[in-house]
Amino acid sequence: MLDSRILNALTILARKLKKYKWVLIGSTNLAVQGVDVAAHDLDIMIDRTNMEFVAQDLKEYEKKEFEFMEKGPFKGYYSEYEIDGVKVEIMVDFEILQNNNWEKLNTRLEEPIMVNLRGLLVPCSRIEEQLRGYKHLNRDKDQEKIAKLENFLANRSEKKHKYEMKPLFEQRMQTLLSDPADFEKFKKIIHMPTRNFIRCNNLKITPDALMERLNKKWKVVQPFSDYPEIMIIESNLDPGELGSSLEHLLGYYYVQEISSMLSILALDPKPGELVLDICASPGSKTSQMAARMENQGTIIANDFKMDRIAILSANLERCGAMNTIITRNDGVQLCERLATSFKKFDKILLDAPCSGEGTLRSSVKTFLMWNPKVVKKFGRQQKKMMASALKCLKVGGTLVYSTCTHAPEEDESVVNFALRNFPVKLETIALPLKCRPGISKWGDETFLPEIGKCCRIYPQDNDSEGFFVSKLTLLEEIK
Ligand SMILES: C[S@@+](CC[C@H](N)C(=O)[O-])C[C@H]1O[C@@H](n2cnc3c(N)ncnc32)[C@H](O)[C@@H]1O
Repeated sequence: MLDSRILNALTILARKLKKYKWVLIGSTNLAVQGVDVAAHDLDIMIDRTNMEFVAQDLKEYEKKEFEFMEKGPFKGYYSEYEIDGVKVEIMVDFEILQNNNWEKLNTRLEEPIMVNLRGLLVPCSRIEEQLRGYKHLNRDKDQEKIAKLENFLANRSEKKHKYEMKPLFEQRMQTLLSDPADFEKFKKIIHMPTRNFIRCNNLKITPDALMERLNKKWKVVQPFSDYPEIMIIESNLDPGELGSSLEHLLGYYYVQEISSMLSILALDPKPGELVLDICASPGSKTSQMAARMENQGTIIANDFKMDRIAILSANLERCGAMNTIITRNDGVQLCERLATSFKKFDKILLDAPCSGEGTLRSSVKTFLMWNPKVVKKFGRQQKKMMASALKCLKVGGTLVYSTCTHAPEEDESVVNFALRNFPVKLETIALPLKCRPGISKWGDETFLPEIGKCCRIYPQDNDSEGFFVSKLTLLEEIK
């Protein structure tokens, strides 16, 4: 029902109740972190992904189907709902963002209440507190209405449990996790929220100094002695609290799930190196690289989508990553061009777009969107990216290929393709999590024995998200 191209831009969920009104404005991950609120004088933030869920859940309350609005300052889809006797309008707009027409938007909003990224309500008084000194906000604080909405949204998150794996997906996961007890553990954990991992940004603060600061308000632990920058917040946090703290705003830490940090631990970029990050946005791994490289050397951070470039750039700026050049290009085309016209890279990260099977715990969307055709499509695209990426690598250079999916078509099959067609060697990786070896066979495809060196991260092994990491060394130049 909701076209993702439309969701690509601004999303507005508006509630009108006599003189009160609250609004959710879909924007970017960053939006909720408080940054865009201040920068654009916006009121309530929710990202696109969450917006899809809000829309999905609100369906039950639907009074009127979405329709296209041709006129007025807002062009997009429009719908009406009733929640607890309160009339709610949803508007999905795609013009305002394109025109950057914030003024028009602001004139439309009256007395809004803020809501955070996760789709849960945060009374505006809290956000005001966080943004104090940054900008004065005069927001409605009607507690009764906030409670009603909180109640609705809380029920909404309970309903998330109705999402289950699609039968074919479940069957595939059962094949991968052949021990029934193991599969049951997987099935259970995918409905549990992830732990709150952050990564200290060494470019701005030392882990010790950050620990001292954060421990004043939260219980923070450093689970790995070899990686003091990796921290877990063990306190109960309010929705959006990690992303809207002052320390986050200052770029002292990056909210990043542990599995996502593994690619850079495997790549191990060093100060002074030339590194290519082909699919870089939102920049979790680019900023992690920059920190490891102590801002020395050069990272070319590329992404294909314009809205993702904006997020990437804002995150790199917040983290003080200064050794990065951002490019917007299709990864394959970029590599084909760089291979013939640029220096070869010491290191390359191919953190490929994928079907996201490993992200079920943080993104219930994956339950709904999983589709075998998408898995195959990504597998083909990833092989093309791999082939062009290897052409940009120096002899002796390292390429890390990672995905956040368990699908062998997008994991082992892509690495196997590289091993069979290019002069590359697969390396053993030492990571601080339990890794299972790459599988040897999937469907009709039998993989090379070295594929066992790939690393499969399952959520039930590490109380993490699911991930896949592999590390290749180029043995001879590819012409
Ligand atoms: C898994 S995400 C990357 C996450 C990122 N490495 C990080 O750690 O923050 C994949 C990214 O690939 C980008 N992408 C999709 N198709 C692409 C293409 N053809 N060329 C380059 N990037 C692409 C998407 O926009 C998305 O940002």
